[in-house]
Amino acid sequence: MPMTEQSNSSKTKSIWVDEDTASFLRLRVKTFYNSDYFERIMLPLMNIPQHGHVLDVGCGYGGLAIVLAELRPDLHITGLDIETAALESAAQYARQKGLANVTFEQGDAHRLKYEDNRFDAVVCQTVLTHVGDAEAVVREMARVLKPNGNFMAAEYTSVGPISVYNSVQDKKRDDAWYEKVFRLTRLLLKGKQALGRGDDYLGVRVPLLATVAGLDVFDVRLNDRVLHVIPPYRHPKQAAYLELLKALYEPDPDRKGLAQNIELMRAAGGTEEDAEWLYNSGDAAAVRQAIADDNLTEISAYVLYLTFARKPGKYGS
Ligand SMILES: C[S@@+](CC[C@H](N)C(=O)[O-])C[C@H]1O[C@@H](n2cnc3c(N)ncnc32)[C@H](O)[C@@H]1O
Repeated sequence: MPMTEQSNSSKTKSIWVDEDTASFLRLRVKTFYNSDYFERIMLPLMNIPQHGHVLDVGCGYGGLAIVLAELRPDLHITGLDIETAALESAAQYARQKGLANVTFEQGDAHRLKYEDNRFDAVVCQTVLTHVGDAEAVVREMARVLKPNGNFMAAEYTSVGPISVYNSVQDKKRDDAWYEKVFRLTRLLLKGKQALGRGDDYLGVRVPLLATVAGLDVFDVRLNDRVLHVIPPYRHPKQAAYLELLKALYEPDPDRKGLAQNIELMRAAGGTEEDAEWLYNSGDAAAVRQAIADDNLTEISAYVLYLTFARKPGKYGS
C-alpha cells in the first residue's frame, strides 16, 4: 500500500480495485477491533433494532458490512460503493461465507440514491478521509437515516510513525528523520486535499460534521486494537498481525505507491525526490528480511475515531 491511502472519484483512476488491495483491506479490518470490543461495546452503541436495515457507505470489499452480517444474522445490510469491481469481490466473499443478509449496490456517497429516513442505522469505515466532500457525505448519511436511528463512523486521523515501534526502523530514526517525515507527510496530505481526494486528518473532526448534519453525537471513542508482534509470535493473535505486516511491506515491483505519492507531492509543491525519500523511509526490504528471519518486533496503533450519533426523533425524543 502507498504511504497514504488515496481516494478515488469518478474523475480519477481508482487505487482500490485489485485483489491485493482487497486482501489487504480484509486483513486490516480484522485488526481494527478486538472482537470483544466490537461485540460488547460497539454493537450495543449502534443499537440496531432486530431485523433492522443498515447502510454501509463506501463498503469496499465488505469489511464492516460482513462483520455486521456475521454477528447479526437478523439484519438486512446494504453495502454501497462507487467501485463496481470492489462490490463484485465483496458479493463473492459474502457468498463464500454463506451470508444471505447482505447485498451490495453501486452509488456515489455524495448523492445517495435512497429516499429520506430509509435506514435504521448508517455506518462507514475509513471512507470519509477519501471522499471529495466529507461534509456532504455525512449530510447524506443523516438524510437517509430514520429518526432515532444511529450513525457510526470509524475514521482515522493520520498520526504516522509516532504511533509505531518497529525494531528495524527504530535504530535508524533520529529527530531529523522525524522532522522530515512529518514535513513530507504534511505535504502529501496537502496534495491529497489539493486534488480533492480527501483529508487524512479528518477522523477527529467527524463529530463536528455529524453535529452540523443535525445528528446528536452521544459518544466518541477510539478503536481498541494495538498491533503487536513479538518473537517467537507464540499467540494466535500475533499470527493475524504478522499477516497484515507481510501484506503491508510486500514488494511493490511496479512502484505504484511511489507514482501515487509523486502525484500528491507535486500537487502540494513538493518534489519527486521528496516523494522518493518518503516512500523509502519505511525500510521495507529490511523489515521484510526481519519478518523472514522471525525477528521483527512491532507495536503500533492505527487510530480510528469512532463517532456515535443519533438522528433526533420527530419531537426531539
Ligand atoms: C479504505 S476503503 C474502505 C473500505 C471499507 N469500508 C473497509 O473498511 O474495508 C475506501 C472505500 O471508499 C470508497 N469510496 C471512495 N469515494 C466514494 C464515493 N464517493 N462514494 C462511494 N464510495 C466511495 C472506495 O471505492 C473504497 O472502497
